[in-house]
Amino acid sequence: MKQSQRLDQLIQQLSDGQFHSGQSLGEELSISRAAVNQHIHKLEELGLELFSVSGKGYKLSRQLELLDKQTIAATSERFIHSPDFAVYSVVDSSNDELKALAQEQVMTPGYSLFAEAQTAGRGRRGKRWVSPFGSNLYVSVYWPLTEGIHGAMGLSLAVGVALAECFEKQGIENVGLKWPNDVYINDKKVSGILVDLETRTDGSAHSIIGIGINLKMPENVGHDIDQAWTDISREAPVALSRNRIAAQVRESVLACLKQYDEQGLRVFQQRWRAYDRFWDKPVRLIMGQRECIGTCRGIDENGALLVQDETGVKRYFGGEISLRSQ
Ligand code: BTN
Repeated sequence: MKQSQRLDQLIQQLSDGQFHSGQSLGEELSISRAAVNQHIHKLEELGLELFSVSGKGYKLSRQLELLDKQTIAATSERFIHSPDFAVYSVVDSSNDELKALAQEQVMTPGYSLFAEAQTAGRGRRGKRWVSPFGSNLYVSVYWPLTEGIHGAMGLSLAVGVALAECFEKQGIENVGLKWPNDVYINDKKVSGILVDLETRTDGSAHSIIGIGINLKMPENVGHDIDQAWTDISREAPVALSRNRIAAQVRESVLACLKQYDEQGLRVFQQRWRAYDRFWDKPVRLIMGQRECIGTCRGIDENGALLVQDETGVKRYFGGEISLRSQ
């Protein structure tokens, strides 16, 4: 058995949040107690919080609801014939994993890859995305760019709207969007989107849309995040199943991607406005060494940010812009 399979088995055993003795775990996995100990350290490296009590054994600080393909598929209300998806355990980055897969096989638009943990989760502008095991959602979606790479900015904004609408459906209040595609709840970031683009020699282009959503961020890794953050478990009025929310996010995102392809960003402009945290507010744009100030006027039909200053309304486009309140 491969080491990664052993780790998965160990997590399965411990996911009930109860104590398991080193001996019983060793017997289940057919490994020595010393090897159990080594595996436990690996789990800690993946962001899991574990207690070790002599005479009792090992215990996770809380029960885990692991992602399960059957449960996600059974919970999906629409998209019975929707594109397939996969659930992986530990990956470097779900975007990179899906990118590699798309090079090897013909992929249906909307094919999605969920991961339990990422060891090199990537955020926008070269940042790291904190991705502990079994706590949050990390999913990447394959989507061809029928209009070429120009359509990518709009597409990522449409996905932001999909997430905001999905969170609101869970009874969560004060959901907000920050251009280009960060989702906030009560002014704290809960979700981010990273779109990777690829063009092929035949001229076709596709995107890998990576979505990270904090569901139940363990405190021990939350400290590593360098901005105000929250998670769904803190903000939702009732406890939500991880598999259920995975299914709903997938449905909402696929529906919006389809709508974006058919009707463009125009149908999302008003919907974006409903969540725009900066609408009509004074903002500061940071673009490397350059800064601009003005009043935020939402987005145009191509996904550019509109900012009004004394000379008029200007359009801003591009991934390297950072938007702040003034
Ligand atoms: C951001 O707000 O900076 C974007 C964060 C995107 C994180 C997701 S998690 C799934 C996918 N895989 C990655 O490595 N990154 C994206």
